[in-house]
Amino acid sequence: MHFFAGGSYLQETKKGLEGIVALDTSISFIDGMQGILKYRGIDIEHLAEMSYETISYLLINGILPGEQELAAYSNRLKSERRINGEMIDIMRVCNYGTEALDSLRTAISCTAHMDHENDNNSLDANKNKAVRLIAKLPTMIAALYRCKSGDFPFQPDETLSHGANFLYMLRGEAPSAIEAEAIEKDFILSAEHELNPSTFALRIAASTLADVYSAIITGLCTLKGPLHGGARRGVMEMLDEVAVPENANNYVLYKLSRKEKIMGFGHRVYRTYDPRSRIFKDMAKRVAKENGDPTWYEVAESLEHVMYREFLDVRGRPIYPNVDFYSAVIYKYLRIPPELATSVFAIGRVSGWTAHCFEQYADNRVIRPRAHYI
Ligand code: ACO
Repeated sequence: MHFFAGGSYLQETKKGLEGIVALDTSISFIDGMQGILKYRGIDIEHLAEMSYETISYLLINGILPGEQELAAYSNRLKSERRINGEMIDIMRVCNYGTEALDSLRTAISCTAHMDHENDNNSLDANKNKAVRLIAKLPTMIAALYRCKSGDFPFQPDETLSHGANFLYMLRGEAPSAIEAEAIEKDFILSAEHELNPSTFALRIAASTLADVYSAIITGLCTLKGPLHGGARRGVMEMLDEVAVPENANNYVLYKLSRKEKIMGFGHRVYRTYDPRSRIFKDMAKRVAKENGDPTWYEVAESLEHVMYREFLDVRGRPIYPNVDFYSAVIYKYLRIPPELATSVFAIGRVSGWTAHCFEQYADNRVIRPRAHYI
């Protein structure tokens, strides 16, 4: 227990802020004991069957769109997908080394410079910025990838869904129906998750009344770390390293003996199976079957079994795959390059981030905790 001199309160330091309730939110709800996740009161299993545009509207506006609202929102997103020639020039200069997110944060900064409403902090202007970010992120990431390879970016295809269009812009050909479903689900399941590290960081930025773009970049930079969104890339690399299911046992034992983390396992909040992982696992199995080569899926299942066994036997409690595990298996089948994985996560998450930004602005008090001086 720590007493603050002159203060009327006492506090116990909680490393990693574990168990601390920092604010009220109506955006999402997690029950980590029962494995329940809801966005705006609706179960994730139900949301996973909708379109990303619907979920994005729900998160930002607080209610599901009617048919007309959805059509209008969808049209606005589609009309904002394009990026201009200046932006593509900037992307050629950025030319990231091994991690596309390093260039994506520059691209978002440049979008802010080019946005005539950048300095307007009204709710209407901020919602316009949210639409621009949600619409343009897939185009930026695909363009960064194409520029890196020395190719011209593909223009967005307005006839395709948010997810299918992203895969089209990466590859230059429309994805199959199951690939389009898989990436759409990925964006939906990645869209929001209460006070995860990137959202908390973003809310701190928003609480200083920093603008939407600055707050989003704060969130994006925090997503990058391997203990958060960067784990998805780590899982993709692990799947390559393990290569066949028979290697999973030795791989896990070796890593655990060195006290290294296995990417894509464990969670601060869930003490049972993450409901998103269940949906991702089912989707990964279907994509693997369609692909005809189930190896990556089988490697992942073996890793899951070994991790469960090792944690139960040695520590007396199991460990479960988190949101990054089977989503990474899907990325392998969708041929998403590992250096893009964290940025692709951000495509989905940007709707949740902007919703949190607006919630913070609407009832703001600067977030400023204390530290215990030693
Ligand atoms: N591999 C091996 N051991 C693990 C793992 C793992 N993936 N996760 C937890 N453990 C162990 C820890 O070593 C620790 O053991 P100890 O008590 O003997 O020291 C115990 O389980 C508790 O783990 P913590 O790291 O204290 O749990 P915390 O709640 O602080 O961290 C986190 C949660 C960061 C997700 C952690 O499980 C982890 O590092 N996982 C791997 C990285 C990862 O997949 N991150 C993505 C999370 S989801 C997301 O952010 C989008």
